[in-house]
Amino acid sequence: MGTGTLDRSVAGDAGGQANPVDLPSRDDLLQLQVKSLHLVARDTHLIELGAPDGATLPDYVPGAHIDVHLPGGLVRQYSLAAPAGSRKSYLICVKRDASSRGGSRWLVEQLRLGQALSVGLPRNHFVLNEGQHSSVLIAGGIGITPIACMALRLNQLGRPFALHFGVRERVDAAFTDPSGPLRLPADALSLHVDAERGGVMDVAAIVRAAPPTAHLYCCGPTPMLDAFEVAANAAGHDSSRIHLERFSAQVDAAVTGGFTVELARSARALRVAPGQTILEALRSAGLSVQSSCEQGICGACETRVLSGRPDHRDMLLSPQEKAANQVMMICCSGSLDGTLVLDL
Ligand code: FES
Repeated sequence: MGTGTLDRSVAGDAGGQANPVDLPSRDDLLQLQVKSLHLVARDTHLIELGAPDGATLPDYVPGAHIDVHLPGGLVRQYSLAAPAGSRKSYLICVKRDASSRGGSRWLVEQLRLGQALSVGLPRNHFVLNEGQHSSVLIAGGIGITPIACMALRLNQLGRPFALHFGVRERVDAAFTDPSGPLRLPADALSLHVDAERGGVMDVAAIVRAAPPTAHLYCCGPTPMLDAFEVAANAAGHDSSRIHLERFSAQVDAAVTGGFTVELARSARALRVAPGQTILEALRSAGLSVQSSCEQGICGACETRVLSGRPDHRDMLLSPQEKAANQVMMICCSGSLDGTLVLDL
């Protein structure tokens, strides 16, 4: 790798078959190195990743995440915890999940300083609006990571905002240690500790109290996100000002099949059989396309739709974006028409 440049390699398909043909990909991999590791809460590590030669990394805005490629072909998404700044490193925060299938467990237990990791370019479906308005940020547990990035950025910009952070116990509250490597803006922070308050944070009350012109952001466990969505709709907040990020899919993938996918740039057509997703049909045909979560929550497989109506099943696109039918997530969404033409 030369000074000031990044070594990039074309992303492979973590779950693909042998010798697949690569379809057009939007993404490269960055070859990074662990620059620092800090324990920032119970079972939770803040991991700093940078280029081995200190090169500047690709830019991002708060709310972005990166795919981290782990041994054994696992790919996991982690939000970036601090604003881009000079972009000499990416900070991710990983909590060891008791039900981990290897991703968070490996990162917390096995990862060491100096170790190499491949990561994808930052992607963002949870974009902070930096306009001249107030913001209400709501986080639960490890969901504080993208919210911390937003809070620190709003603080830099001098924008008004409130930060509500709920945790089970005080030891779970990342970025609240005054001597830690990353600290939430104390003036804006309302910390809710379930064990000390006798219950979870009242997200609905926070949403109801938000100024009508504020942008509202939420990241945390599913019950918190559900409460946030219900309260925001009930309070009449415009959907363009409601932003949330989910860690798991709530809707089953479309696998009824029985339609044809035409790949415009590759001049090929494939039949998607019952029981298959479009991504699986591509793989069965020996074609490789970018993917990661395969649950409709990361955006890695986002593909332009040239004609036809997708059966959208992802958790990323807004109702307006779904209605526009210009892009789709091919890992989980199907087709409402007999033929779907994709920009692949
Ligand atoms: S692979 Fe993550 S949205 Fe499709």
